Amino acid sequence: MPYRIEDLKSLFAFLDREGFRASQRLPLVASRQWWLSGEIESLRRFGQGRPNLHEVAVPAWYWAVHHKHNRFLFERLTLGRADESWNRPEAVEILFDRAIPSDWKLDLSSIERASPLWTVVARFDRYILRSHPAVGGEHFVYFGDDTLFLMEQSRRLLAELVQEGGESVRCLDLCCGGGGVGLSLPPFEGNLQGLDLNPAAVALAHSAARAQGLSHYHYECTDILQGIKGEYDLIFGNPPTLDPKLTGQDVFYATGSLDVLNSILETCLAALSPRGRAAMTVFSAVRDGRDETLEVIKEVIGERRGLTYTVRREFALREGLKLRHALLILKPSRNRSQEVVALSKPGWRLPGLNWRRPR
Ligand SMILES: C[S@@+](CC[C@H](N)C(=O)[O-])C[C@H]1O[C@@H](n2cnc3c(N)ncnc32)[C@H](O)[C@@H]1O
Repeated sequence: MPYRIEDLKSLFAFLDREGFRASQRLPLVASRQWWLSGEIESLRRFGQGRPNLHEVAVPAWYWAVHHKHNRFLFERLTLGRADESWNRPEAVEILFDRAIPSDWKLDLSSIERASPLWTVVARFDRYILRSHPAVGGEHFVYFGDDTLFLMEQSRRLLAELVQEGGESVRCLDLCCGGGGVGLSLPPFEGNLQGLDLNPAAVALAHSAARAQGLSHYHYECTDILQGIKGEYDLIFGNPPTLDPKLTGQDVFYATGSLDVLNSILETCLAALSPRGRAAMTVFSAVRDGRDETLEVIKEVIGERRGLTYTVRREFALREGLKLRHALLILKPSRNRSQEVVALSKPGWRLPGLNWRRPR
């Protein structure tokens, strides 16, 4: 599937004609957390035509206020809830094609025959491809709430660089997966390099970029822990930093450790241009109030760059041990200030959102 750019172009043109981009106003489906206050905020954003950026279930009332036709395609092509009775238009067949390269380790055992193997997310006027959520295996192509969050952050940092003027911007989508974060960037002068270990993800990212005319986007299947080439002005990513010892779960696309984090930070520092900025989400263990990841970050970065470390979420794992998800921003080398932003409300935090969908 991933290399048939013409088929993907037809799919995207079909989705355009169907007004599918409006589906970005719907929340991303997940069900890990659900707070009433979050839902109220979601409804407010929905009413304003702004995307939702935190993980929520889809409450019935979202459907009630959304156009029926969009809802139909959204359910089938973004949520992957298709069934045998759907007489599928030719243009969407590409998403259902199960002819995948034999070296892709995708576990399709939990995905129903009638479901698409790949699903489409509309965001920031671009289309992003990912695996059907029921697909497993180590070549599963991820897309999550941190993807949405990083889109906001990298768009903001890109705007800062563009505002400064000067040279074109060289972007690095670190551990790019299906390329969601980079694909969400507005048109810019420069280029983008995406790197990921997962061949299925790299192929999807490449195809989605080419089918949307982004010839200055390039993707490579590589292990970033072996070092990366080049210099970049904007680096963004959600690299693997979740230690399986903490959660008892080995989440293949997120599995990391403090050593891995150390190596990723060194790699970023070496690749970042003097005017460069980086945005990265990281997991952290907080033992008796001590944030181990923040300690490593401060040690590695030292005086070389300024940083902002913002806690996004915090989960109590056991007595005296919390798991944190945080955003690390590396500043241009002239700015060496360090700032740690605590969680504003225990339990959850909505990412800052400044973006409005163009009408
Ligand atoms: C949480 S996913 C994020 C994907 C993408 N940035 C997104 O948000 O949609 C993490 C990605 O890191 C990739 N990855 C893990 N270890 C890697 C490594 N050593 N080198 C390159 N990519 C790696 C995984 O294949 C996975 O696609």
